[in-house]
Amino acid sequence: MILTVTLNAALDLTHRVDRLRLHASNRVRQVSARAGGKGVNVARVLHALGHESVVTGLAGGPTGEALRRDLAASGLPDQLVPIGGETRRTVAVYDEERADTTILLEPGPVVTAAEWAAFLQRFEQLLPPARAVVLSGSLPAGLPEDAYAQLIRRARAHGVPALLDADGRALLAGLEEAPAVVKPNAHELAAASGTDDPRAGAEALRAAGAQSVVASLGPDGLIACTLQGSWHARPPQAVTGNPTGAGDAAVAALALGLVARTPWPERLTQAVALSAAAVAAPLAGDFDPVLHRRLRHQVSVQPLAPLEGETRCP
Ligand SMILES: Nc1ncnc2c1ncn2[C@@H]1O[C@H](COP(=O)(O)OP(=O)(O)OP(=O)(O)O)[C@@H](O)[C@H]1O
Ligand SMILES: [Mg+2]
Repeated sequence: MILTVTLNAALDLTHRVDRLRLHASNRVRQVSARAGGKGVNVARVLHALGHESVVTGLAGGPTGEALRRDLAASGLPDQLVPIGGETRRTVAVYDEERADTTILLEPGPVVTAAEWAAFLQRFEQLLPPARAVVLSGSLPAGLPEDAYAQLIRRARAHGVPALLDADGRALLAGLEEAPAVVKPNAHELAAASGTDDPRAGAEALRAAGAQSVVASLGPDGLIACTLQGSWHARPPQAVTGNPTGAGDAAVAALALGLVARTPWPERLTQAVALSAAAVAAPLAGDFDPVLHRRLRHQVSVQPLAPLEGETRCP
């Protein structure tokens, strides 16, 4: 079982309109709602691939209940810990004429120290059957900056490797506990490392503690810097569609590779194929299975020469 943690889970609402007009009333054609947040997306992808996952994190209020109902309807077991605050919603307004989306992200609840303590207790209970833990997304207000670092430390005590997909200070604090993999995108990597060069940035995050760094570069694929070597994996061509959630699909594939100890070039091939196939699916957490099967044979993986001072396995 792979445990996915979404501390700032959300109910994702999509409103479809013919054409979005600002400063005016807009009639909505169709509304849909589904459970979201990065760890939830990862769990959806794992489930679609036939792998067992458990969703944990925090959920509260009527929105939290709606989120849990949707998880149950999607066949995703949930171990969300209740909180007093209300789970946030994200609102996407899809303009059909322009094929364009505008997104509003609510800030989310404020979590108390007692709620965080209750979460830590639940997390400890969920670790023994877990083969890997995926920590994804932003931290809600009230949580300590080192929340992910605390979870990585606890996972390690149970021999469970952690994969961290976070941004800013949550990412930087997490590095100190040596997560097995971190998966920043190009923007997150540049902000965390202070350099726009992804290779140098990835090595800087390894030097700061991550065991391996897999940086996602949108249509340019992934670069991985690991103790076993460094590689650049690319899709055969850019896919058009919705890139939101592509990173979560990449994380799902990397978590499976971590559990199976798949050699890195094969792991990266799977991650690029799955994430590119996710771009072709309109909703985050979904992927196009036909494109996924085809792309698995078309990803190119090139080894990168070691940088000066880089540490490798002998
Ligand atoms: N247009 C595209 N065509 C093909 N593959 C893509 C495209 N965009 C993204 N990908 C694949 O998806 C992976 C993740 O994309 P990206 O770097 O945008 O992640 P992200 O910003 O973390 O996404 P998110 O956080 O929304 O899930 C890339 O490494 C690549 O393999
Ligand atoms: Mg991302």
